[in-house]
Amino acid sequence: MPATTSPALSLADAQRLCAADMTAVNTLIRGQLASDVLLINQIGEHIISAGGKRLRPMLVLLAAKALDYQGRDHLHLAAIIEFIHTATLLHDDVVDESDLRRGRKTANALWGNAASVLVGDFLYSRSFQMMVGLQRMAVMQVLADTTNAIAEGEVLQLLHINNPDVDEAAYQRVIERKTAILFAAATRLGALLAGADAATLDAMAGYGMQLGLAFQIADDVLDYTADAQALGKNLGDDLAEGKATLPVIHAMANANPGARARLRSIIEQGDVDALPELLAAIERSGSIAYSLARATQYAHAAEQALSGLPETDALAALRGLARYAVKREH
Ligand code: IPE
Ligand code: IPE
Ligand code: MG
Ligand code: MG
Repeated sequence: MPATTSPALSLADAQRLCAADMTAVNTLIRGQLASDVLLINQIGEHIISAGGKRLRPMLVLLAAKALDYQGRDHLHLAAIIEFIHTATLLHDDVVDESDLRRGRKTANALWGNAASVLVGDFLYSRSFQMMVGLQRMAVMQVLADTTNAIAEGEVLQLLHINNPDVDEAAYQRVIERKTAILFAAATRLGALLAGADAATLDAMAGYGMQLGLAFQIADDVLDYTADAQALGKNLGDDLAEGKATLPVIHAMANANPGARARLRSIIEQGDVDALPELLAAIERSGSIAYSLARATQYAHAAEQALSGLPETDALAALRGLARYAVKREH
């Protein structure tokens, strides 16, 4: 599927377009972190003030804007989505035993696993308090289903750890749930607030889902190729965890039998010392190029999903984010 020739904004222009809204979202986020339990403030501040790209809240804002939503609830929904994302990051870094996130030591590295998991739970449940405040059953429904699917995705991924038989279809089932569904919820909810019809809701959600798949594949490529400083995360975390992501799945499928057996054992062991060897195999098989091509296909599908929606700056910004998701360096 080719890229559309329709206009697309750069990331910087997309950010400018929702800058005023995003300032309001960040104020909401900071306010909602408040608790009289000090450790919650500390850990919450630690991860939230480190920034992050705020891509998911942008999706809520842009989807609502693209459909000419005039109210204020999109600001709350954007904050809710970022809270859910942040909760999953706190939990994910425990599960992945990661010690760098957003250029800082992870909460689990600083305060331990128990504190990270529990503050993640705080953020999850705070997001549900905020949802209830919106008093919209349809919104609750989407977010309840979404958070439940994310949990399934994380558990499914856990079941695949150290398993060299994970194929691309199984990989896709995991990334759909652990990552793409939240992107889809962000854009669906933006459209829902704007009172969109069923076809438009599905188009926006379809865009989010395809974008999320592209985004996670790019993340999995960056885990092997990025500059750690720019990424703000350690490279090789997926290997250390024994996670067979798309570059590795492709390299295993395309290696000769001897090399394949060796790659299988590297994944079974989660052998970080073999990172240079794995990288060489990935290189030999063109697995980075293959993975980025798959991500590009999903990004194009995301753009295609938007065709037929009214042509606005916000729509061009959504297209721009689809292109950015694959090209990004962090
Ligand atoms: C990280 O998401 C988790 C994935 C789904 C790959 P982001 O790359 O959006 O993280 P932040 O919010 O910008 O730190
Ligand atoms: C994304 O997977 C996990 C979530 C959806 C929270 P990763 O484990 O690859 O994310 P990073 O690389 O740690 O951000
Ligand atoms: Mg991780
Ligand atoms: Mg990753």
